[in-house]
Amino acid sequence: MRDFDETNITEAVLEQFKNTPNPRLKTVISSLVRHLHDFARDVDLTFDEWNYAINFLTRTGQICSSARQEFILLSDVMGVSMLVDAINHRMPEGTTATTVLGPFYVENPPEFPLGFDISRGIKGERLFVEGTVTSASGERLGNAEIDVWQSDTDGYYDVQRSDLSEPTLRGRLHADSQGRFHFWSILPSPYSIPYDGPVGDLLKATARHPWRPAHLHFMISAPGHEKLVTHLFVRGDQYLDSDAVFGVKNSLIQDFTLQPAGVAPDGKKMSGPWRKLVYHFGLKPVAVAAAQAR
Ligand code: BEZ
Ligand code: FE
Repeated sequence: MRDFDETNITEAVLEQFKNTPNPRLKTVISSLVRHLHDFARDVDLTFDEWNYAINFLTRTGQICSSARQEFILLSDVMGVSMLVDAINHRMPEGTTATTVLGPFYVENPPEFPLGFDISRGIKGERLFVEGTVTSASGERLGNAEIDVWQSDTDGYYDVQRSDLSEPTLRGRLHADSQGRFHFWSILPSPYSIPYDGPVGDLLKATARHPWRPAHLHFMISAPGHEKLVTHLFVRGDQYLDSDAVFGVKNSLIQDFTLQPAGVAPDGKKMSGPWRKLVYHFGLKPVAVAAAQAR
């Protein structure tokens, strides 16, 4: 094993990995080596470029903290997050499409009762959200767990703001025994993904914008079903066709209809106009997921 050049080094590296005991790891690492080597040959990679890449990845790691995950962001803007999502979520009829989780989900959000206002009164157009959670067959999933989170009118999540004393525009509720849910919030706004780190540098260098179309995030769980991670997007948003992280799917674009002053569905008296979103979530039974994996 000597005198390697660009024509024979790939095989030599693969040979060194040939005793990998875990067959899946062997498949993945071998493919990664092949593609990485082909990439370097394809672009005639220079030392300067490779050093730049190593420095870029180093900076990506260094800027990560408990409040910031730059590697997820990198995966998102490269379209890898949505590619892995597509490979792993071949969704049957009657189920809601999936999309990226994003970096702003917080584990174990505060629980709130049906009808709660997760905006806790911050500025914005009032939004009433209602719907149901069912299985792909239409069976209602009583007590389904629904996590919701979103940005504020200025495009920031609560974790990005230091002036809030409690979790805002996020929380967990449970559907009633008929799988129905409703809550109050505000109309979400488009927002820029974090743009002041290595991922922002990449977007600037490639003349890409950092904007995401306005959306509400949902993570929904029910026994016997795959966890659903998705968004609902506001129809008409200017960034629906150029989402910086490629997360938009047609079926997830919804009407957030403008309603006149009057009485809301939960009996609340509205002195000014407000918005309404109605959506019925469909979850994929675990049995279907298992059959697809076979
Ligand atoms: C989000 O929707 O919160 C998000 C997703 C991907 C990257 C940045 C933000
Ligand atoms: Fe988001």
